[in-house]
Amino acid sequence: MDSRVSARTLANALGGWRTREPAYEALADGIRLLCLDNRIAPRTSLPAERELATALQVSRSTVAAAYRSLRETGHIRSLRGSGSVTRPLGSRDPGRADPGDGMIDLQQASPPAWPGLAGVIAEVASAAPSLVARVGYDVLGRPELRAAIARRYEQRGIPTTPDEVLVTTGAQSAIHLVSSVLLGRGDRVLAETPTYPHAVDALRRAGARLVGVPVSVDDGWDLERAEQAFARTLPVMAYLMPDFQNPTGRTMSPHERDTILLAAERAGTVVVLDETTADLDIDRGPVPPGFQGGEPGSVVRIGSLGKTVWGGLRVGWVRAEGELIRRLVAARPAHDLGTPELEQEVAARVLSELDTIVAQRSTLLRAGRDALVDALTLHLPRWRLPQVHGGVALWLGLHAPLSSALVIEARSRGVLLTAGPRFSIDGGHDRRLRIPFTAPPEELTRAAEVLAEAWEQVTSAAPMAVVDPVGAVV
Ligand SMILES: Cc1ncc(COP(=O)(O)O)c(C=O)c1O
Repeated sequence: MDSRVSARTLANALGGWRTREPAYEALADGIRLLCLDNRIAPRTSLPAERELATALQVSRSTVAAAYRSLRETGHIRSLRGSGSVTRPLGSRDPGRADPGDGMIDLQQASPPAWPGLAGVIAEVASAAPSLVARVGYDVLGRPELRAAIARRYEQRGIPTTPDEVLVTTGAQSAIHLVSSVLLGRGDRVLAETPTYPHAVDALRRAGARLVGVPVSVDDGWDLERAEQAFARTLPVMAYLMPDFQNPTGRTMSPHERDTILLAAERAGTVVVLDETTADLDIDRGPVPPGFQGGEPGSVVRIGSLGKTVWGGLRVGWVRAEGELIRRLVAARPAHDLGTPELEQEVAARVLSELDTIVAQRSTLLRAGRDALVDALTLHLPRWRLPQVHGGVALWLGLHAPLSSALVIEARSRGVLLTAGPRFSIDGGHDRRLRIPFTAPPEELTRAAEVLAEAWEQVTSAAPMAVVDPVGAVV
């Protein structure tokens, strides 16, 4: 069924859209970006011109001109009786560049495969006759792999039996499954803002009403807001990334962990920890024990080999008490019949070498981070660069709320990025930009050069946006 977006929702999603003149082109760009980010799905009816004009406090002719511009670029079409409807962006994955088209794609933070992986896959493939003699997939996960995952938790000081592990097709599938089992329509879910956007999509789809708790590069988790949010809204679930939070790169201090856990326990909230990025240490030293504690049943952990080994492996997992694992197993077949055994076999072998792999990852991520920081310091000295000690990305501070305009401009110059607001759960972050440092250093250096040109263009088109915090134009 086709969907609609209300004028109010669209106005909220557009945030600080008025970044340049003419206003109608800035508005059209804002809507284009929402389509590119998939925040407006294809075949969605846009609000009537008059309603959107009222919500945005602009003239109807501005909205009419923006819609005309969107029609000309093929982003919407007008249908008699249904108004203006967004068009599919073609058959390719809307979030990715086509290989070989010369674009630098920094939308995903996908490190290249661990170099030893091809050899492990070849070894496993040589046993293909016995693998294909079996059913080849299962809902719970192979016992050897679940035992290997349980052992990793044991090594971190988190007692775990294989019965407390369920293997999924990546962490995203785990987030979706856990949300669909734990949540009902209208349930409150506490999440960091900014956060990992695909998790937000999955939580919302499961019916969640999100309550945002700010986390920032400089100050970490806003504990006062977190305590209030737990106490006032009694969320059913909290979705958090305690180690190298995506996108800020922050890691919770023991005090932050304890405070959040205590507030969650008092509110009766299940804390879902997404530890997909937890092993991606660059210069913090040996990985600390991680988020400990919690009553059995109140902490669920999600992990993945997507960043440490290879996104293409599609192996992730849930660690939870046995009762919840049984509920997840029962619910899973409705949308997914299980994880392929071939991939599980590869994952089980790779897990035994994970410490070596993580060390290799650290070297690779350090090269990417350092190249990006050097290039941005050189070409964009006024941007605020965070100091990150791990994870996949820099969450940068721009000196004007022009993230969306910059992303549109950079796209036309061959660099694909995701604007700050995509990581927000309640609007804002137009002064922020996430740049993953998982790409090769040469690409990151080139991207910084392109961004400097694009920034020059968008700031000269919107001089009034470039003000310092006390309001002076700088
Ligand atoms: C925090 C976080 N969670 C989950 C995922 C999805 O992981 P997977 O590729 O294992 O589905 C990602 C991938 O970017 C991520 O950054």
